[in-house]
Amino acid sequence: MDLKIEDASIRILDDLYEIEKQCFDDEAFSKQQIGYLLADYNAVGFVARVNGEIAGFIIGRIELIRNQPVGHIMTVDVLPFHRRRGIGRRLMLEIEAIFKQKGAKECRLEAREGNVAALKLYGRLGYKNVAVLKNYYGQTHGVYLRKNPL
Ligand SMILES: CC(C)(COP(=O)(O)OP(=O)(O)OC[C@H]1O[C@@H](n2cnc3c(N)ncnc32)[C@H](O)[C@@H]1OP(=O)(O)O)[C@@H](O)C(=O)NCCC(=O)NCCS
Repeated sequence: MDLKIEDASIRILDDLYEIEKQCFDDEAFSKQQIGYLLADYNAVGFVARVNGEIAGFIIGRIELIRNQPVGHIMTVDVLPFHRRRGIGRRLMLEIEAIFKQKGAKECRLEAREGNVAALKLYGRLGYKNVAVLKNYYGQTHGVYLRKNPL
């Protein structure tokens, strides 16, 4: 597999939105939201290409919590056809490395309760469940996860 990771850019917003729609049903970010996330000054985003085609992406940002930089992953998406080939893991490792480089000692994210693929992926990368987020996704609860140290 020829896997390449590159910076995510607003130029490919349409492609990213198409992938987001294929990865999430009700909770997909709108195109405008993805554009907004990417345009954030503190955003970090990567795209995974397999044989030149976009197979997935990740967007996060550095947030200041009690004056300390903390990584926050907003979305990670891999197209169904490309799953279970290590792309999600690779995207996570790439963004964590940048967070670390920018001084973050911790990374946080939210996932839907029952999202087995995501929760297993995060668990294997060292994330711990720290809280249940009641009705975070409408009727469904969310799980708040944290990795510390990064
Ligand atoms: C979650 C997601 C990004 C994982 O991407 P991926 O490229 O398939 O993940 P990887 O191949 O890197 O998997 C790494 C590890 O995570 C775990 N994992 C991934 N998918 C899994 C699944 N469906 N069931 C069980 N474990 C899974 C495994 O431990 C896997 O390692 P292994 O294949 O050696 O067993 C992908 O399923 C996806 O895009 N889902 C829809 C969007 C989503 O839910 N994003 C997360 C929002 S919080």
